[in-house]
Amino acid sequence: MKGLWIPGAMPVELILVEVFALILFLAGNYFLKKIYGRGVSKFFQGVLLILAAYIIFKFIIFPPIPAALLITYMGLITLVVFLLLSTTDESWEEFKDPIIKTLEGRTKGFKTARTITFALLPVLAGLGTYNFMKPNFQEPIELRTVHPAPPASIQVHNKEMVLQEAKSPFRVDENGKYEENVENKYLKANPYEDNGVPYLKSIREGGEIFFQNCHFCHGDNLNGAGMFAFAFNPIPANFTDPGTIAQLQETFVFWRVSKGGIGLPREGFPWASAMPPWEKHLTTEEMWKVVEFEYWHTGYYPRTWE
Ligand code: HEC
Repeated sequence: MKGLWIPGAMPVELILVEVFALILFLAGNYFLKKIYGRGVSKFFQGVLLILAAYIIFKFIIFPPIPAALLITYMGLITLVVFLLLSTTDESWEEFKDPIIKTLEGRTKGFKTARTITFALLPVLAGLGTYNFMKPNFQEPIELRTVHPAPPASIQVHNKEMVLQEAKSPFRVDENGKYEENVENKYLKANPYEDNGVPYLKSIREGGEIFFQNCHFCHGDNLNGAGMFAFAFNPIPANFTDPGTIAQLQETFVFWRVSKGGIGLPREGFPWASAMPPWEKHLTTEEMWKVVEFEYWHTGYYPRTWE
């Protein structure tokens, strides 16, 4: 159903659904008349109208409307249905007829309907009251865990990555070998100097990626004060704060960058973080470079797996 629905085209879709329902009703009415000599009775017309309105408000309108609004709309629709059915005396009589016949139990069929109605009504009312009054034992909303335990491994661009074993491909020395402390040597270096150091080249590229994608939220100085930052709750991470990347393993940070706010486990909610899942826009290498840039710029080291 979702694929058929075009976002933004709700008003048109709604009209189509209503026209379709009307055609269905007219066709049904026509065939009933043809076969039994009379169409849908006024009573069922009213019931059908209310039912159709409920289905449209509850299941078709998108985005969903709040329950309080649904109740208001249904109240109004019911009122309109009564107005419509009581516009002429005949129509009102026809509408009342099955109700009165049921109350009086005129024939065997109506008697059964009466028994069922009178048995069902108190049960439904009872159930409704029970549900309403029932105390709720749900656990209270927990505080959000800012750094939940990461998964053991993740799948990024069809490649499996085991977080405890993976290493940044750009934290390397002059010979391209992984070097945990390479950053130390180049903290004050100028990444724009053409000195052929692979580490500085990835820092330069990581910086470009950062200023094309991340600084709107995480800020020019990586301090979490980007121009859009305060539109979000939680606000974007401040990388200069020792509580963020400085106390995380590099692969943890890579995981957060690639999977974003929606990739957080349950403890990361109920406040949904606005951090985008960057694997949708950046390559694995680009994500590693920007992570590398964040460490270089702040001068922090990633935590290692102990
Ligand atoms: C739409 C705003 C936005 C953009 C753009 C954005 N982020 Fe984020 N980022 C956030 C928010 C919000 C958080 C969540 C803070 C939280 O979950 O506590 C976050 C968290 C993070 C974290 C986790 C920090 C931690 O302590 O767990 C990292 C790493 C990160 N972002 C990196 C990036 C990178 C790299 C980019 C650019 C490629 C980027 N972000 C772009 C909003 C954004």
